[in-house]
Amino acid sequence: MYEHPEYNYKVVRQFSIMTVVWGIVGMLVGIIIAAQLAWPELNPGLPWFHFGRLRPLHTNAVIFAFGGCSLMATSFYIVQRTCQVRLFSDGLAAFVFWGWQLVIVLAVITLPLGMTSSKEYAELEWPIDILLTVVWVAYGIVFFGTVARRKTQHIYVANWFFSAFIIAVAILHVFNSLAIPVTLTKSYSIYSGTVDAMVQWWYGHNAVGFFLTAGFLGIMYYFVPKQANRPLYSYRLSVVHFWSLIAIYVWAGPHHLHYSTLPDWIQSVGMVMSLVLLAPSWGGMINGIMTLAGAWDKLRTDPILKFLVVSLSFYGMATFEGPMLAIKSVNALSHFTDWTIGHVHSGALGWVAMVSIGAMYHMIPILFGRKQGEMYSKKLIDVHFWLSTVGTVLYIASMWVNGLMQGLMWRAVNTDGTLTYSFAESVEASYPGYVVRLIGGAMFFSGMLIMAYNVWKTAQLSSQSAAGEEVSA
Ligand code: HEM
Ligand code: HEM
Repeated sequence: MYEHPEYNYKVVRQFSIMTVVWGIVGMLVGIIIAAQLAWPELNPGLPWFHFGRLRPLHTNAVIFAFGGCSLMATSFYIVQRTCQVRLFSDGLAAFVFWGWQLVIVLAVITLPLGMTSSKEYAELEWPIDILLTVVWVAYGIVFFGTVARRKTQHIYVANWFFSAFIIAVAILHVFNSLAIPVTLTKSYSIYSGTVDAMVQWWYGHNAVGFFLTAGFLGIMYYFVPKQANRPLYSYRLSVVHFWSLIAIYVWAGPHHLHYSTLPDWIQSVGMVMSLVLLAPSWGGMINGIMTLAGAWDKLRTDPILKFLVVSLSFYGMATFEGPMLAIKSVNALSHFTDWTIGHVHSGALGWVAMVSIGAMYHMIPILFGRKQGEMYSKKLIDVHFWLSTVGTVLYIASMWVNGLMQGLMWRAVNTDGTLTYSFAESVEASYPGYVVRLIGGAMFFSGMLIMAYNVWKTAQLSSQSAAGEEVSA
C-alpha cells in the first residue's frame, strides 16, 4: 500500500474508506425507515427492526459514523498538508481510528436492542459515552499536537474550524451526557424537566453548528480552493466568518423549544440569534462560491467541483430556511411536520454528504499514490453527482409539500370550531410525499454504491501500478 514519505496517509485512507462504508450503511437504514413511513406493514413483530429503534440508528450512523469518519479523514489530511508536518503521533492516530470504529459498532449493536439514554443525537449509553470521550480526547491531542509542531507560521483557516469543532463537541458531549448509571446499560440524566430540555437542545443545536457545520466548513475552506485551483476569495472574510459563526451559534438552541415550558424570553433570544445567524452562514457560503470567480467554466467539466459548489448552494438554502423556521409564527406551523425533516436533509444530504463526497473524490486518489482527483472513472463521478443532486431535490421538495400540507391540515377549523381533518387524514395525504422521498433517497444511495465501486477500482489501479513499479525496479 502507498506510503507518503512525509505524511501519515494510512489513517486518512482508513477513515476515507470507512466514510464510504458507513455512508452506505447509514443511508440504507435511512431508506428502510423511509419505506416504513410509507408502508407501516414493514414494521414486523421484530422489536429491533421497528422504526423507533432504527431511526436513532440512522441518525447515529449518518452523523457520527459517516460524517465523523469524513471529518476525521479530512482533518488529519488537511492539518498535515497545511502545517507541513506529520501527525503528532501515528500510534495515537491509529487508536483514534480503531476506537471510533468500536464506538460505531457498539452503537450498531445497542441501539436496535433498545438500549438508549433517549436523548436525541446522544442516545448512546454511559459506558459507550465514556469510550467516546477517551477517543475524542486522543483525537484532540493528535490534531492540536500536529498544529503545535507546524512548520508554517500561520494556522490555515480550515484548521480554525476543525479546532472549534473538536473543542465544542467535547464540551457539548460531556455536559449533555452527565448521567447517573443504574445498570451497565441504563442511566438517567442528571437534569430534569425544562432544564433537561434546554441542555439537550443546547447540545442538539450545537451538534448541528459544530459537528454538521463548523467541521464541514473546514473541509470547504481547504478543498474548494484546491479543486478550483484558485486562491480563497477572501481570507479576511473567512476570519470574520469564523468568529461570528461560533459566537452566534451557541445562542440559537432555544428555537427547538418554541411554545414549550422554556421561559418565553429565552425562546425569543433563540429566535433573534437564529435570524442573525443568517449573516455569518451566508458570509461563508459566499466566500466559498466566489472562490470560483474567474474559473466558472471549470464547473462544466469537473464533477468534483460540481459536488463542492452545489453543496455550498444547499448550505445556503438550509441556512436561509433555518432562520425562517426559527421565527415563532413560522415554527407554529412547521414544528412536528415533515418540513423540519426536509430542512434537516437539505443540510444533511445537500451540504454535509455532498461536500464530504467531493472532498473524498479529491483526496482518495492522492491517498492511493495517484494524482489529485484522478479516480478510476470521471464519468461515474458525474453520474454520482446527478443522482445525488436530483435525489436531494426530490427528498426536500416532497418534504416541503408534506410539511406545509400537514401544518395547514392540522390547524384547519370549521365554522363551528371543530377540526376539519382528523390526524389520520393528514397521514393518508402524506403518502405520495413519502414515496417520492423514498425514491429520492434511493437515488442518493445508489450514487454511494457507484462511489464504492469507483473507489475500489481506483485502489486496484494503484496497487497494479505499484506492483508494476516493483517489477521494473
Ligand atoms: C439515502 C439517504 C437518506 C434517507 C433515505 C434518509 C431518511 C430519513 C428518514 C426517513 C428519517 C426519519 C424522518 C421522520 O422521522 O419523519 C430521517 C431522519 C434523519 N436523518 Fe436521514 N436520510 C438519509 C440521509 C441522511 C444523512 C446523510 C444525514 C446526515 C448527514 C441524515 C440525517 C438525519 C437526521 C439528523 C434525522 C432526524 C431529523 C429530525 O429528528 O428532525 N440523513 N432520515
Ligand atoms: C443558520 C442556520 C440554521 C438555523 C437558524 C436552523 C434552524 C433550525 C430550526 C428553527 C429548526 C426546527 C426546530 C423545530 O421546530 O423543532 C431546525 C431543525 C434542524 N436543523 Fe437547522 N438550522 C440551521 C442550519 C442547519 C444546517 C446547516 C443543518 C444540517 C447540516 C441543520 C440541521 C438541523 C436538524 C438536524 C434539525 C432537526 C433537529 C430535531 O428536531 O431533531 N440545520 N433548524
